[in-house]
Amino acid sequence: MLWSLSAVVSFAAALTISDIGTNESSPILNGIVFEDISHSGDGGIYGELLANRAFQGDNPSTKNFTGVNAEISLSKDALSDALPYSLQVNGEGFYNEGYWGIKVAAVEYTARFYYKGSSTLIVALKSLHGSETFAEATPQAVTTDNGVYIARSNGFQLFEAKLKPEKDIDGLDNGLFVYGSGNFALVSLFGPTYKDRPNGLRKDIAEVMADFGPHFLRFPGANNLEGEGGPETRWKWNETIGPLIDRPGREGDWGYSNTDGLGLHEYFDWIEDMNLTTILGVWAGYTLKPFPVPEDELQPYIEDTLNELEYILGDVSTKYGALRAKNGREQPWNLQYVEIGNEDFLDYSLSYSYRFAAFDRAIKEKYPDITTIATTEVGISHFPNGTWWDQHYYETPQWFVDHFDAYDNYPRNATKLFIGEYAVVFEDGHSNEWGVSGSRVRFPTVYGAASEAAYMAGLERNSDQVRAACYAPVLENVNGYQWRPNLILFDAGNVNVTPSYQVQKLWSQSQGDQILTLINANFGPLYFVANVANNDTLHVKISNPSNSTTDFVAKVDVTGFGYGIASAEGISSSDPNTTAVDILPWEVKFENQTLSVGLGPYAAGVVTIKKSIEIPSTTKTSYAQLGALASALAVVMFLLFDYAL
Ligand code: AHR
Repeated sequence: MLWSLSAVVSFAAALTISDIGTNESSPILNGIVFEDISHSGDGGIYGELLANRAFQGDNPSTKNFTGVNAEISLSKDALSDALPYSLQVNGEGFYNEGYWGIKVAAVEYTARFYYKGSSTLIVALKSLHGSETFAEATPQAVTTDNGVYIARSNGFQLFEAKLKPEKDIDGLDNGLFVYGSGNFALVSLFGPTYKDRPNGLRKDIAEVMADFGPHFLRFPGANNLEGEGGPETRWKWNETIGPLIDRPGREGDWGYSNTDGLGLHEYFDWIEDMNLTTILGVWAGYTLKPFPVPEDELQPYIEDTLNELEYILGDVSTKYGALRAKNGREQPWNLQYVEIGNEDFLDYSLSYSYRFAAFDRAIKEKYPDITTIATTEVGISHFPNGTWWDQHYYETPQWFVDHFDAYDNYPRNATKLFIGEYAVVFEDGHSNEWGVSGSRVRFPTVYGAASEAAYMAGLERNSDQVRAACYAPVLENVNGYQWRPNLILFDAGNVNVTPSYQVQKLWSQSQGDQILTLINANFGPLYFVANVANNDTLHVKISNPSNSTTDFVAKVDVTGFGYGIASAEGISSSDPNTTAVDILPWEVKFENQTLSVGLGPYAAGVVTIKKSIEIPSTTKTSYAQLGALASALAVVMFLLFDYAL
């Protein structure tokens, strides 16, 4: 739907977007925080399609496996030291039903498993309840090792088969069937991966994520970094590298076991494939059932972090740089930001003061160019020079609107900020009532998204101080979530985006490097920010988190842009509770340096003006007319297209 312009309202007429006194923006303002929660990793973006493939976690079992005319049980015939269990099969065979199903499409799948036995083996992709077979193959023994798969281990032989169904199948009630008796371990199935990486990301989910245009990845958490019961339960970087048979996995913090198939190398592949900046979280002596490590016992964990950093940054002459090369990556990766722990304001013992100081000192001593990020101010008398401070906000729509100006008066010489998690999670009036039923939002709504957009405009206005920010959490498998709401929703075969995703996309793809000055700005009901990117594109991001329809009108007094060509797009809905909206073109007028755009209710959108050549004033009118003509043509074409639909 298009919202047409109504009469120019007087408050907005005075607004001028100016390039006098701009401030610098951050090159990595919007990005992603990722931790394995709600099966975002295993059962999500990690490309493995089978569940419980290696019987990991605190309660190993045969869950997700079913015998086919066979007795199946968990056997202590170990594949490796890290993977002490295999599946014993006596009978025809077994199947694995995946993470709430398997999508069968006309693409190539790779099935792999380790086997000890003497049967002639067959693998097939089949429907669970009918007897339909979509693809079948005889697996072949693999004879060469690569960085991820070792051909033989403890008497087990690695087998591999390619499966190519002829057509896309509706429904997800399918399984990978393996026929044969004996012991099976690390039973795996991959479909197409993002950028064709072996052991890579599920292509459809990764593509949707890449499409919103994030600039950084904060990983591996958040809570899932921390562990639930003492240091041994933490995310251990060194157990997520090398061949899969050497990765024990762990009981994650969100009620299910993690394979750690998505490990340090895979995270860095992801970062390179999406052209992201790394924000690495390191474990800082604190687990969730608060067990801060005492000061005099901290040193081994500091050493562990330094080893991790050497693995990432060291050249091949170093111990851990050489190990990285052995695992397939000779070149060090890029790493500039290291976050020390997660949400340490929850550490009521205030051990953070000694823990942060100890980690920070050790990291800076060895890597003076790294920016460290603190996760609380509690217990720290002052932040060291250059350190950022990560703040998290899970609040109501109204809270986000009210905090549009939260950083307007933030001292410019104070600690720079990272808003490492934020989202509308409560209905208005229910702030912080975590336990109150009905107060928590299930899916992001358009009202929530427009409110986040207002807040994000405020962050961007202050992005000389607020250097980065990310919505959290980013991914949810709708069949197994522990947190709500989330940005991108998926199951075994579908990926859906939310209004909050559309806002992230609109805002992220219109990142600028200079934030323009807004003269005579009045905020409410509209909230906005303007930037220039690469000295050739001007963006005005506008949010309307109210139910009114409102015009945005501004004079553009920015050198080179006064006669450019403007276009606009955004989301809007008259129903604040809408949970799915498309980004549509918006009507925009740009004449005689005056920009006008009409916003519908619960809306967020971006006006883009492409720089025009500076022209003598006598010819300005005709250029302006040309610009107006082009905008009008675009609107007419859209209307025709809209009508045709
Ligand atoms: O994003 C979900 C959780 O919220 C994170 O794990 C934690 O950091 C925060 O409390």
